[in-house]
Amino acid sequence: MASLTPVSQFKYLFIEPRVRASRQNPSSVPARLYLQFRAPSGISKMPTKGVVVSATTAEKPKKRYPGESKGFVEEMRFVAMKLHTREQAKEGEKEVKEPEERPVIKWEPTIDGYLRFLVDSKLVYDTLEKIIEEAAYPAYAEFRNTGLERSASLAKDLQWFSEQGHTIPEPSSPGLTYANYLKELSEKDPQAFICHFYNIYFAHSAGGRMIGKKVAEKILNSKELEFYKWDGDLSQLLQNVRERLNKVAEGWSREEKNHCLEETEKSFKFSGEILRLILS
Ligand code: HEM
Repeated sequence: MASLTPVSQFKYLFIEPRVRASRQNPSSVPARLYLQFRAPSGISKMPTKGVVVSATTAEKPKKRYPGESKGFVEEMRFVAMKLHTREQAKEGEKEVKEPEERPVIKWEPTIDGYLRFLVDSKLVYDTLEKIIEEAAYPAYAEFRNTGLERSASLAKDLQWFSEQGHTIPEPSSPGLTYANYLKELSEKDPQAFICHFYNIYFAHSAGGRMIGKKVAEKILNSKELEFYKWDGDLSQLLQNVRERLNKVAEGWSREEKNHCLEETEKSFKFSGEILRLILS
């Protein structure tokens, strides 16, 4: 895990963030001009803040999007990291309200809330993995058997909870809503669907693992669930998927790429609602 947030800050991790008002340059591109992004019509809500314009020649400047030179996954990552709060991740740029305005959330996860989270997560992974298996668009087939699949591991975890005498709840509104959304999107809007695919699997490998560890310390006697275990080297599995995502996106126009990036906010919204079940 790249960075672990101290437990003292952990209670803030679930608070709905507020967008920071300032629009400063990202520190990663200080030597270049950073222009306000003028989205073409239809992508006006694009969350990427700017396009980088090379200032090295007097010729017509070439537009560069943050992360573009490294491949499209880096562009998706750039947009996603900016949607974290500073408390969630170092690169986060969204802000919560002033400390005194923050709702007092006592960080007391319960088994029942965590089970609701696991059940809704399983519904989302079942849906994603079925979509990939059926591959309504040929590009989806690139993401079969990546080793990142979580449906089977969640089934084992729920079985374990059941054996411990816990009642497994039915899926609730956040999971049902997201699963329906993903199914519809996958049939009509592959670029937007791929944005969710990326964010769901990669978020789980980063912040998701961190959250799982903290919950386990609090209420599961530090038992590590199957949800947080992968067969093989996780960083290699992620790298393989990055390469496939980059390859698929190479066939997209700039407008299609922007459309995909623009979907990131929705991915955070839907996943955030499922995450909050842990504290329900
Ligand atoms: C409580 C909520 C969350 C916390 C604490 C959290 C925390 C983190 C952390 C610590 C990282 C690693 C940053 C690094 O590379 O140094 C990360 C990466 C990331 N997060 Fe989150 N996150 C949260 C929610 C989300 C949500 C809701 C999404 C989107 C659905 C998301 C998407 C991502 C993505 C795409 C990455 C990049 C992973 C990579 O580089 O491979 N995160 N997050």
